[in-house]
Amino acid sequence: MTFAEKLSMVHGALHEPTGITGPIYAGLVPAITRLCIPQLGLLDGPAGSGDGLTGVTQLPAPVALAANWDPELAHDFGSVIAAEHAGKGANVALAPALDIVRDPRAGRGFEVFGEDPYLTARLGVSETQGVQSLGLIAQAKHFAAYNQETLRDTQPDNVVVDERTLQEIYLPAFEAAVTEGGAGSVMCSYNYLNGTHACNNPYLLNQVLKGQWGFKGFVTTDWYAAFGGAGAANAGLDLQMPDDCYFGPALEKAIGANRVPQARLDDMVGRILRSMFVAGLFDRPASGSPDAVVTTPQHAAVARDIAARGMVLLKNSDNVLPIDPSRTHSIAVIGTGGDAGAITGGGGSSHVVPPYVVSPLTGIKARAGGATVRYADGTNPVQAIQAARSADVAIVFASVMQGEFKDRLTLELFPTDTLLIELVARSNPNTVVVLNTGSAVTMPWLDDVKGVLQAWYPGQEYGHALADVLFGDVDPSGKLPITFPKDLTQVPARSPLQWPGVGSVQYSEGLAVGYRWYDQQDITPLFPFGFGLSYTSFSIDHLSVGPAVTDDGHVTVGADVTNTGHRAGAEVVQLYLEHPSGTGEPPRVLRGFKRVSLDPGTAAHVTFELDPRALSVWDAANHRWSAGAGTYTVRVGNSSRNLPLSGAFTLSHALSPGIPTPPAPAIPQTSLADSLGDAAMCPKDFIAPYVNGGVLSITGFPPLEVLGKPVP
Ligand code: BGC
Repeated sequence: MTFAEKLSMVHGALHEPTGITGPIYAGLVPAITRLCIPQLGLLDGPAGSGDGLTGVTQLPAPVALAANWDPELAHDFGSVIAAEHAGKGANVALAPALDIVRDPRAGRGFEVFGEDPYLTARLGVSETQGVQSLGLIAQAKHFAAYNQETLRDTQPDNVVVDERTLQEIYLPAFEAAVTEGGAGSVMCSYNYLNGTHACNNPYLLNQVLKGQWGFKGFVTTDWYAAFGGAGAANAGLDLQMPDDCYFGPALEKAIGANRVPQARLDDMVGRILRSMFVAGLFDRPASGSPDAVVTTPQHAAVARDIAARGMVLLKNSDNVLPIDPSRTHSIAVIGTGGDAGAITGGGGSSHVVPPYVVSPLTGIKARAGGATVRYADGTNPVQAIQAARSADVAIVFASVMQGEFKDRLTLELFPTDTLLIELVARSNPNTVVVLNTGSAVTMPWLDDVKGVLQAWYPGQEYGHALADVLFGDVDPSGKLPITFPKDLTQVPARSPLQWPGVGSVQYSEGLAVGYRWYDQQDITPLFPFGFGLSYTSFSIDHLSVGPAVTDDGHVTVGADVTNTGHRAGAEVVQLYLEHPSGTGEPPRVLRGFKRVSLDPGTAAHVTFELDPRALSVWDAANHRWSAGAGTYTVRVGNSSRNLPLSGAFTLSHALSPGIPTPPAPAIPQTSLADSLGDAAMCPKDFIAPYVNGGVLSITGFPPLEVLGKPVP
C-alpha cells in the first residue's frame, strides 16, 4: 500500500466524494479498488439498521431485549441486524451498546442492557456473535464509562472513577464482547476518563483493551469524538469518524515529523484490514445497497417475540391479567400512548425508521374476539372517565420519550399521564397501566391500580406483542434489568458531584451501582433488579453446590425449577454470589442466570458453572483479578430480592486468573505546541451536520491534554 492508501483507511470520508447515491451510512471508509479493498460502511446501530434508512425492521429497544434475560434471543437479535445491514451494503454494525445504566435518568438507558455487568456481558457476547455470524463486523460501544448525556463531549464530562470500579463494573462487558464474542471493533466514547479523553486514553486503549485483553481489532472514535491527533494515534486510536481532520493531513504531518511512528500507521491499517479479513470481506463480492428493502416477515416475527417476552409484569392483583375474551365483554384503551402516541423506539442515533407500527389499539382490537374495544385518547378527562366506567377492564397508557443527547431530569411521569392514571383508576376497579418508557419511572398510583406492565420501547410490532401478553398467548416472562427506585432520593448517584457532575463527574458510589447499592444500603426499591411476575407460578428448590471445597476455583451449582401453576410459562433462575467478608464487594453480585420455559406441572434442572474469574475481584494494587481463599455463598432465586436458596463452598487458596494490566508501552510524547497544531486542523467549535436529522453540537471545550491543565 502507498502511504496515501494507508492514510485513507484510518479516517472517515465525510469530506471526500463517497460515490454513494441515496441514503448514506453514519460513516464510510472508501474502497481502494487498486488493491481490491472493499469500502467499509459503518451503520447504526443497536436497535436495527438506522441512520434514516428505510425498508428495515424496527426491533425492540435493547433494554427490552435485556429484560428477556435470554442470550439465544440476543443472538437472533444480532442476526437480524446483520442480515439487514448486509442487505443495505454496510459491513460494520455500530452495536452492541454495552454501557451500564449508572443512573435511571441516563438518556440512553434504553439503548443498553441495564445496570449489571454480567447480564450486559452475556447478552453482549451473544449479540456480537449474532452480528458477526453473517459476516458483519460488530462495533462494541461506547468505550468506556459513558453513562450520561449531560455535559456530553465537554471537559467537565470527566469521569473520575477508581480502577477497581472501572474493571468490575464498566469494563467487563467490553472484555467479554472482545475476548469471547470476538468483536472486530470497539468505539471509544465522548467522555473523559480520569482526566484524559476516552479516545485519547492510553490506559483504556493500549493497556487494557489491546494489552490486558489482547484485542486485535480496531478502535473507532465516536462521531466527532476525536480529541487529539498524534497523541490519540499513539494512545491506540485506529480510525477517526466520520471525518479526517485529525487522521488525514494532520496525521501525515505528524508521521513526517516522527511524532507518530510509521509502524503505528501500519498497525492501525493492519488492524482494520484484519477485522475485514476475519469477517470475510475479501472472500465475497461486495453486495447490498442502501436502497434495498431488507425487512422480512421473519425479522418482524423476531421483533414481536422479543417485545412480548421482554415485557415485565410488575403487578397483577386478583389476576386482572390475562384478559379472557370469553369473560371480558368490554375493554377501554385510554391514553394517546395506546394509539398514535405509542413510542416504539428511543431517540438519537439508534433510531430506526419503522416500516409500519402496530399500535396497541390495533393489536388489542385484533385479538379481542367478541369484546368491544373503546378508545379515549385521554385529552378529554370526561371521555376518559366514561370509557373507563363503561368497560370491564381499563388499560391506560403512560409514556416517556427518552433519547440520546439529553438525560431525564426526573423519574416522574408527565403530570398529565399521572392524572389520567388516577382518573381511570378511580373510574374502573380493573385498571391496568402499560408503561411505555425506556427506563424506570416512579408510581405514586401503584396501590390504586390492579395491574402494571412495563412494555419498554417495543419496536414496530408493539401492538401485537402487547396483545400477546395481555391476552395470555405469551407468558410475560421479562425480568427487570434495572432497579426501579421509589424516587430519586434512593438512587446511588445522589449528589450533584456524582450526577451530572460539577467540573467532573465523581463515581464515588464506586462498586455500589444498581442493585449493589440498594443491597449495600438496605434500601427497599419500588421493584428490584431481576423482578418480574408470570401468569403461572414456579418453585425453585434442590440446590446443590459442589465441590464443597475447591482448589481450582471451579464449582457447579444446580437447582430444580418447577412450573407449579396451570399455564405454560417461563422463569429466569438467577444466581448471586456473596464474596468472603473483607473483600470490599457489595453484598451480592449476579453470576449466573438461566431462562427456562415449562409446561404446567413440569420441572427442569438448571446448572451454573462458576470459574476462578467469577469468584474474583479486581486487585488494584497488582492490577489483576484475584479470588481470595475463603467461604463463598451462592444464593439462587428469581430476583435480586427473592433468593430463597443458599449454599456455600470454600476456595482453599487464592487464585489470580488472567494477566495483569501491562504497563503503559513507551510512546512518543506529544508537546503542547504540537497538540495545539493538531487541534487547529480539527476545530471543535462547529455544529456538525448529523445524519439523523438532528444536530450534534460540539461545544468548543479543547481537550485537557491540549490545555495542559490539571484535571479539576
Ligand atoms: C453515537 C453513536 C453512534 C454515532 C453514529 C453518536 O452520536 O454516540 O452511538 O453510533 O453517533 O451515528
